[in-house]
This record gives sequence, C-alpha cells and structure tokens, in this order.
Amino acid sequence: MDELIDATGMLVMPGGIDPHVHLEMPFMGTFSSDTYETGTRAALHGGTTTVIDFILQKQGNSLRAALEEWSGRATGNAVGDYSFHMAVTDFNDSTKEEIKEMIADGITSFKTFMAYKGALMIDDRQMIGLMEEVKHQGGMVTVHATNGDMIDYLVQKNILEGNRAPIYHYLSQPEVTEAEASERFADMANYTGCPGYIVHMTCEGALNAVRNATRRNQKVFVETCIQYLLLDASLYEQDFDGAKWVMSPPLREKKDQATLWAGINQGLVQVVATDHCPFKWEQKLMGKDDFSKIPNGHPAIEHRMELLFSEGVKKGKITLNKYVEVTSTNAAKIFGMFPKKGTIAVGSDADIVIFSPNEKHTITASAHHMNTDYSGYEGLEVTGKVKTVLLRGKVVIDNNKCLIDKGYGQLVKRKKINGII
Ligand code: URP
Ligand code: ZN
Ligand code: ZN
Repeated sequence: MDELIDATGMLVMPGGIDPHVHLEMPFMGTFSSDTYETGTRAALHGGTTTVIDFILQKQGNSLRAALEEWSGRATGNAVGDYSFHMAVTDFNDSTKEEIKEMIADGITSFKTFMAYKGALMIDDRQMIGLMEEVKHQGGMVTVHATNGDMIDYLVQKNILEGNRAPIYHYLSQPEVTEAEASERFADMANYTGCPGYIVHMTCEGALNAVRNATRRNQKVFVETCIQYLLLDASLYEQDFDGAKWVMSPPLREKKDQATLWAGINQGLVQVVATDHCPFKWEQKLMGKDDFSKIPNGHPAIEHRMELLFSEGVKKGKITLNKYVEVTSTNAAKIFGMFPKKGTIAVGSDADIVIFSPNEKHTITASAHHMNTDYSGYEGLEVTGKVKTVLLRGKVVIDNNKCLIDKGYGQLVKRKKINGII
C-alpha cells in the first residue's frame, strides 16, 4: 500500500554516498571498530544510504582472495547499501590478469597507497603498470597520495629523537609530502591516460598540483573529507587526547581549510567523504608511548551530512545544490553508479533523505550509533537534522529509529568508468 510522508518544511534530497569508508578493516595490528552492520546502520542514521568500502589485497595473495574475505564480512550483515573499491598492494603479472575480472564483477576502482611503507605502499613502477592495465580495461585508479619514503624517514627520526607524542604524527607528514605525491600521481595518470582520483586531500599544495594539471586539460578527481574542512592541527597540541585525530594525512592549517572550501566552489574538489576508520579509545592507547603505533583514523560516517550542511550550507560557504553534488551525485557519477544512485528520478533507486534544515542538536558519543566510545566532534552544536531516510523506496530510518535489520543492505556493482562527469 502507498504511504504518504508529510515533508512540509523539510528538504528532500538524494541519499548520501560516502565513497571512502573502512569497515572492520585489518590495519596497524587491529581492526577498525565498525562492522558492516554497525557502520552501515550508523551511516543510514546520518542520511548516507550507500558506502564504498576498501578491500585490501594481502601482499603475495590474489585480488580474488581479498574479495572473498570482504564479501564474507559484508554479505548478510550490511544494513545499508555498499560497494567495493579494490586496494592493490602488490601489482604483478597475476594481479594484472585479475583487473578485467574485477571490473566484470562491478569493482571498477582500484585504490593505491603511495604511503604506509612496508605495509600497503606500492612503488611507481607498480603504479604505472596498474594504470596502464586499468585504463585498458575501463576502470579508475584512486590514490592515497603522500610520499611514503619521506614520511618513513621523518617518523623514524622523530622516534629516535624521543618525540613520541601524537603531535609528531602531524609533524612527520608535512604538506610537501602530500603536494609532491599528488603531483607525481597526476603526472603518471596523464602519461598513461588513466582516470585518476585522489582520496582524502587535505592541503593547498596538493590542490595546486591538481590545479596545475587542469592547465593541460587533465581531469583528476579530488575528494576531501569533512574533518579537513572543519578541524585543524591545533587539536594535536594536547597530550595524548590528540590521538583522537591521528589519521593520515593529518589535520592541517586554517589556510588549507580555506583552500579546500574554495576548491569545492571552483569545481576542483568534487566529493566530500569521511575516510571513516573508527577505533575505540583502548585501541588508540596502543600508541600511548609511540605515535607511530596509534591506529590511524577517526569516526565520521554518521555525521558527514549534518556537519557539512551546518558548517557549509548554513554558514553560506556552499550552496544547497553544491551540497547535494559533493555528498551524493558526484560520487555516483565518478564511480559508475549514476543514475541508480545519486539522484531522485524515475527509475532510480529512491534513496531519499528528508532533512529538517533548522533543527539544532549536539553531537555526542553517548547518542551516536557508531561503534566507538568517543566522538571527534563532541559537544559541537549543528543546525539541520536527518529525520527520515528511504533506501530503495523503503523507510529505513524514522525519528532516530532504524526500522530494518542487517541483511537489507545490497552490494552495488558498478559500471565501467571513463573519467568524465
Ligand atoms: O588515517 C587513515 N586515513 N586511516 C585509514 C586508512 C587510510 O589511509 O585511508
Ligand atoms: Zn589513506
Ligand atoms: Zn581511507
């Protein structure tokens, strides 16, 4: 039977898409603390109906084995819809053979790490080989663009000098490490002709590298994350509490925030994601005496839509149309999910957020649905609240209640990517 929803005075928007999350990810000797169930449920509470999670290839193993491992965690457990990026951490002749298969299975974006030396990082030789194959098969290469060798050197230097507090995480990843790697990535993407996307961009130097690439009419897509727009590195100037915001790249300066907001309005930054990689406080304590052992990441999957609305739209930094583009439509287009996702239209999935634009509320860990015991935004008052969420036409969230069980979330297989939106 049809159901009538009274949305008087509300905004009605496409369901949010967060293309950068890490659910139950094995990382730095532990696992990120949200499962597919808790993470996608928290996302729905915050108006995000689809997430794209990162599968990590284990070095020496196949992409297929990694896909099976991640499918095992997601299938039957997701509450909201999800899709996968494949992180290639070991590109060799047999990995190359698997790229075509992955694309046929709807995994059309391949993540690379220019950082995390000795763990996830690939070298430029592997990057070029991967780009050539991915371009040939119709996919996209995405990147964590920071110079892993420089960072490795600076981390070791700080540890040897006895600089072990969280602020040294920040000081070991200066802006130049990101600017240099972003430029190198853009150059390699230009040379190979492979569509490229830089994840979690934080700073002016990196965005300028992309701005320069546009002068040769190259398109490199850019994602920033909500924390880089709202928070800055002064948070590291407190003892171990700064560990809440230990993430890579680290929070930057106010001038970088200004550059990123401008980048959104200039169309250079197309996506605002979260890089949701939550840990409980006891996990953060693994690095109590050594910042390099603090698991990197922070929780945000639930609050991206409300934070960006409050700080961006309400404060006049971006328009409502831009808000919808960067929280939903652009990610759907860039990653081959449009028009199934990212729009309200006949034939689309009817993922819809009904949003109360003037309602104020305060973010606090005691009320959130993420599986973490702290919030990076504790006590922050925001204006605008998600009231009702529909996923594939069904009301899944209403007035803070989730009305569906795990298993409702579906895998979204994506189309080939041409690098144009
Ligand atoms: O600190 C972060 N970003 N943790 C998750 C892994 C990554 O680099 O995206
Ligand atoms: Zn990263
Ligand atoms: Zn990430």
